[in-house]
Amino acid sequence: MKKIAVLISGQGSNLQAIMDACEKGFIPAKIVCVVSNKMDAFGLERAKSVVIPTNVFLRRDFMNNQEMDRAIGDYLESFNVDLIVLAGYMKILTPEFTQRFQGKILNIHPSLLPKYAGLNTYQRALETGDTEHGTTIHFVNEEVDGGAIVLQAKVPIFPNDNVEDIELRTREQEYRIYPMVIKWFIEDRLSLKAGIAYLDGKPLPEQGYACE
Ligand code: GAR
Repeated sequence: MKKIAVLISGQGSNLQAIMDACEKGFIPAKIVCVVSNKMDAFGLERAKSVVIPTNVFLRRDFMNNQEMDRAIGDYLESFNVDLIVLAGYMKILTPEFTQRFQGKILNIHPSLLPKYAGLNTYQRALETGDTEHGTTIHFVNEEVDGGAIVLQAKVPIFPNDNVEDIELRTREQEYRIYPMVIKWFIEDRLSLKAGIAYLDGKPLPEQGYACE
């Protein structure tokens, strides 16, 4: 069975959706470890409750980001992981790390990339007066929130929405589409070649597979 590692920094609700999908057999793989860069990430409790090994790597324990990422990489390699899933991992990975695991790292970002890379995406969409928002799953390369897009899900923004409304609506889609994309990867339907994402042997368009 293929092996997945999940990297988190916070509450881990996406981690939960992925754990549930593995448990149900929807994703035919096993989560072999959960890594956090925050000691108090609630996702660690979620993992521990189903006896998934966890490990915390704190930046203050390392000389620099490269050393930290090298240690995380060595830990992941000790499990022989097939896929690294970033699920709310809020630290930028070093180019050494992304190159070491090229084509094997997926991320979810709460915006319709390339719009709103970085933080506060809901706030920014609201302030811009956007009528739609969404979430993106992409392969990870050395650019922040860069890398080939696999799938986006759009949600509407209604006139009286606040940040929480948009976040809730977007998160619902995240829990639906992240397990689906992970399943594609695990079943060898999804891959990255020369910076382009392929699904079932066909290159995906720039905005990823269309999903409204
Ligand atoms: C998710 O909404 C994810 O899209 C976002 O963090 C949240 C984590 O929530 N990721 C990023 O902003 C990455 N740039 P969770 O811990 O409950 O899964």
